[in-house]
Amino acid sequence: MSEPIHFGWFVGQGFGVQGWRKDSYSWGHTWYQPDIWEQAARVLEQAGFDLLILKDGPTVSYSERSRDVGLASAEGGPRHDTLFLVPLLLRVTKHLGIVPTLNTTHYDPYIAARQIATLYHQDTPRVGLNVVTSGGGARTSNFALPGRPLDSEETYRRAEEWLRVVRSLWTSWDRDAVIEDELNRVYARADRLHPIDFRGEHFDVAGPGVALPFPDEGPVISAPSNSPRGLRFVGENADLQFGYSRDPDIIQGIREGIDAVRPTNGRDPKRAKIFSNISPKVVGSQEEKQAYLAWRRSDEGLRRDLPLLSVILDVDLTQLDFDAPLPAPYLDAWTANPVSAGVVNAFLSTVDDPRTTPFRELAARSTHGQAGDIVGTAEEIADHIEEWTESSALDGVLFDFNVDPESLFGTLVPLVPVLRRRGLLRTGYASTSLRENLDGF
Ligand SMILES: Cc1cc2nc3c(=O)[nH]c(=O)nc-3n(C[C@H](O)[C@H](O)[C@H](O)COP(=O)(O)O)c2cc1C
Repeated sequence: MSEPIHFGWFVGQGFGVQGWRKDSYSWGHTWYQPDIWEQAARVLEQAGFDLLILKDGPTVSYSERSRDVGLASAEGGPRHDTLFLVPLLLRVTKHLGIVPTLNTTHYDPYIAARQIATLYHQDTPRVGLNVVTSGGGARTSNFALPGRPLDSEETYRRAEEWLRVVRSLWTSWDRDAVIEDELNRVYARADRLHPIDFRGEHFDVAGPGVALPFPDEGPVISAPSNSPRGLRFVGENADLQFGYSRDPDIIQGIREGIDAVRPTNGRDPKRAKIFSNISPKVVGSQEEKQAYLAWRRSDEGLRRDLPLLSVILDVDLTQLDFDAPLPAPYLDAWTANPVSAGVVNAFLSTVDDPRTTPFRELAARSTHGQAGDIVGTAEEIADHIEEWTESSALDGVLFDFNVDPESLFGTLVPLVPVLRRRGLLRTGYASTSLRENLDGF
């Protein structure tokens, strides 16, 4: 038996269209109503998953360069607010961690602290917060921001301030502030509330907050990133890091990068968990696998799979000549000012020289589609997961899919029994707290 690892589900489309362009789209679910989400949360809990992370982006695609492909494929929108899904999912589960995403560039920290506290108090401590930082392009013009894209350094500085404000507001009421003294008619004591008087580069916030204090450490904070700057941010601020790398050396680098800054923050370095996003395609036989891999490399397969990466990298990759190398200006632009250094590195590092390799080779290896970055039988996929986690500092994997029936059942039904038999996937929960479940092993 293997040691158990953690499993999560990352909804790559967020509270957006689920299963568009898949055969199961016609099964009659309506993505903007609760049913399909509640079904997914229940199934993930039955399967023994630790958490469900809901990706978010509060605007349509970055710019005109990727807007058409983004809307045609529904990868760039429409997208509703993930926070409103959280209470619905808490109602139908007891153990699954529910982690909505907020962007520190777009959201006001005072409002965000109150929103997350409101959700956290609605159930056992299972609500987390996924903190994202993209500051890119046209998106900034929708918000009270300078109207120009923030560069990576500025985005992370803002994120650090943002979280400091949020955490200060969360602790601005002493835990014993609420006394519910019916005799003297005092609900809460004013002398147990503290202004935060925060003055920073991006935010000036007086405080105190207005929500109840937490009875414990508060929400698990997750953050996706792979760049050195991002890892510093994660190490100092988050409990869980995730990204697209699964190479043991890279994971070891991430572990060291996080641990190097963590002790200075007075926290236990072992507590930041590292997850890798995977999109396994489970097949029934070797013939099916070969046929699927060939389809994935075909023009049709690539056009089906590339819209997501097109939206992330803000350029329509589906229109390129797949047999020529990527145009140099794209590579230059991504290198000079990446939308995400982590995504760009993970995408380009799968081949020796992206400047001379036909784009088809690169695209077929991309881990950013939902067409399956590992293809195999359930046993083969379990082998991969076991090997990655045993040979590296990975603590778990995040299945990067939507919650359409094909993704959910097509993946879990064949895979869960195999993962369970090997001891990789938990068979029950020790706690109703996400933090305790994550810290349990
Ligand atoms: C796996 C993964 C998931 C992400 N999810 C989101 C998201 O839901 N919303 C968002 O605005 N940005 C998202 N991002 C972008 C990150 O928050 C960040 O801006 C980006 O990765 C740049 O940081 P880096 O250069 O340190 O990688 C995601 C990035 C990764 C790698």
